[in-house]
Amino acid sequence: MQKATMKKNTGYILPDQEEKASYLQKNFDEIAASYDRFNDLFTGGMHRFWKQKTIRKALHGLQSGTLPSRITVLDLCSGSGDLALGFARNEPERRVLALDFSARMLGVLAAKRPTEMKNLNIVQGDAMHLPSEYSGLFDVVSIGYGIRNLTDPRAGLQEAFRALKPGGMLVILEVGDFSPSWIEPMARFYMEKIIPILGRIAQGSSHEMYDYLPTSAREFPGAIEFTDWISQTGFEAVQFERFFFGASILYSGRKPL
Ligand SMILES: C[S@@+](CC[C@H](N)C(=O)[O-])C[C@H]1O[C@@H](n2cnc3c(N)ncnc32)[C@H](O)[C@@H]1O
Repeated sequence: MQKATMKKNTGYILPDQEEKASYLQKNFDEIAASYDRFNDLFTGGMHRFWKQKTIRKALHGLQSGTLPSRITVLDLCSGSGDLALGFARNEPERRVLALDFSARMLGVLAAKRPTEMKNLNIVQGDAMHLPSEYSGLFDVVSIGYGIRNLTDPRAGLQEAFRALKPGGMLVILEVGDFSPSWIEPMARFYMEKIIPILGRIAQGSSHEMYDYLPTSAREFPGAIEFTDWISQTGFEAVQFERFFFGASILYSGRKPL
């Protein structure tokens, strides 16, 4: 069992493995109202562009035989739902399911969903334990800034694999390690010193989730190692692309036919 990790630089302690899910569910509920504002501040709005690239990557990589306009998409850890909305927009025949365990994050998504958008369903659920009827149901599984938050990211990858049809695409957007190495000290300064301030501005008061973000990002595997995890799950054509020196990384892989 992994014990809490003390980070000397921030003093923040990551939750124990056994508490992680309830800790995150509670804390994402608490920051839900300011989450989108924070993302805009944190990335200077670039996350919107990165999410568009994530959607395009999924659509271009598909080999499931379903027309892109008719595919089914499962957006895990959907939160305020930018990816889910992006997949559903202008494609009434595409069925999109947004799943998250935070009721308030999903409330933000529900408020953003246009009333005429009938092809986006929202469900509260646990990405670590998807219903058995999801097996082989989806052409695309997307996970935006969520895999790092799972209690067991490798088991989460297996759930995504199970939910996909053969030929279906997994796309994951996640904060990454930085490259080239000379950028690392600046990037770490930004992550560990500036993010808590931006969080305070977005939220109106300080919140430990803005210490959780840099600490959990630092603990998460780098791009090469995480790419291996995806391949070891059984995906093929696994790739990654760094955005803005690794501030975010787009990972992709296809379930073999
Ligand atoms: C950083 S937010 C990402 C939101 C959105 N996908 C985006 O790209 O901006 C992470 C989300 O993961 C959700 N989450 C974390 N662990 C989860 C789990 N086991 N099952 C479902 N949702 C989970 C949280 O509730 C939160 O809404």
